[in-house]
Amino acid sequence: MTTIHLAIFGIGNVGSTLIHQIQKIKSELLKSQHIAIKIPVIANSTLAFFADDNEMNWKLDFEKFSEPYTIEDVIYHFEALNIEHAIAVDVTASDHFIAHYETLIESGFHIVAANKVANTLDYNFYKRLRNVLKANNKEFLYETNVGAGLPIIETIKGLRQSGDQITKVKGVFSGSLSYIFNQFSEEELPFHQVLNNAVNQGLTEPDPRDDLSGKDVARKLLILARELGIEAELSDVKIESLVPKQRNGNITQQQFNLQVQQLNGVFGALKSRLKNETVLRYVGLLNVVDGSLEVKLVAEPKASPLGQLKGTDNLFEIYTDAYKVQPLVIQGSGAGKTVTARGVLSDIIKLSTHLQKFYIGRFV
Ligand SMILES: NC(=O)c1ccc[n+]([C@@H]2O[C@H](COP(=O)([O-])OP(=O)(O)OC[C@H]3O[C@@H](n4cnc5c(N)ncnc54)[C@H](OP(=O)(O)O)[C@@H]3O)[C@@H](O)[C@H]2O)c1
Repeated sequence: MTTIHLAIFGIGNVGSTLIHQIQKIKSELLKSQHIAIKIPVIANSTLAFFADDNEMNWKLDFEKFSEPYTIEDVIYHFEALNIEHAIAVDVTASDHFIAHYETLIESGFHIVAANKVANTLDYNFYKRLRNVLKANNKEFLYETNVGAGLPIIETIKGLRQSGDQITKVKGVFSGSLSYIFNQFSEEELPFHQVLNNAVNQGLTEPDPRDDLSGKDVARKLLILARELGIEAELSDVKIESLVPKQRNGNITQQQFNLQVQQLNGVFGALKSRLKNETVLRYVGLLNVVDGSLEVKLVAEPKASPLGQLKGTDNLFEIYTDAYKVQPLVIQGSGAGKTVTARGVLSDIIKLSTHLQKFYIGRFV
């Protein structure tokens, strides 16, 4: 039997769902694959709960017994337990937490992350992190960084390793922007109403300009580019922001919400200029041949896979030497706590299976 100990950082939407999903599959995983998963540390930005393992009542335990902590406290706690393999799970959205990655790796932890920050900082950091992982014989999995639970990174890695040359990746990479333009194209509604529908359903960030700015799509595109060996920076991504300049940094979120009807003119005009049987889609475009990265609003034929998108679906078209004319297409829900937590769990199980097969060494 192989025992995997997890330190879970972040107990928001994804983190809480992940813990619930782990509790549900635990006994089956032990029975079918002889892998035991334990969660001795659960933490948010300020408090941590330390135990031998966490059970179904972890929320109550966390409320009652959690305490202020440092990353060293987590490492000491793991050292004190009889640990075979340790994984730090980053389900925060924190810029600060990634500063702990090196310490954690050097202290014996593998990393699984939904947090995109470590893969989208400057290329020097990206490279250094991989060097630290290699030097310490540790793994870093982050499938949910792009497309939530969809197997995008794994597919791209697999194609690359098999020698199939990827030439282009194009798609709708954002659940919220997918919803907004799918609705706006289908329904006779003004843009502000579609945007408000997305906000009210919790599909956007609290400030919808974070979605409309295109930065989140740009980050995902950058992650894919780097996965393909392109040494790009976020500033290399050409972004067509959907937030008019005068409504960006210089007004508050509240003022933006009050003025949101003024976006109707711009988007209404774009829609009325569309040719027959075309729809608007906000796409990411990675041209591997010339190394260009672009995020923009385009008109797509209604009958194309992108034109037929529904709801909050993401869609990735991957063009390669083997998939030259008809791309390999991956489509499905690209956001939401359930699919994202499932993707993180899948990374944990993949890593656990790998550790079971290949690592005899103990947590050091
Ligand atoms: N939700 C989705 O659909 C989705 C899809 C794909 C990827 N993701 C990614 O998944 C991650 C989590 O998303 P979420 O929706 O679960 O976020 P969330 O609900 O805002 O939860 C974030 C959690 O992280 C904790 N946290 C923040 N800074 C921390 C720090 N320095 N150390 C330890 N914990 C810290 C927060 O604790 P406090 O409460 O103390 O601040 C909170 O528990 C994000 O990176 C997001 O981009 C989410």
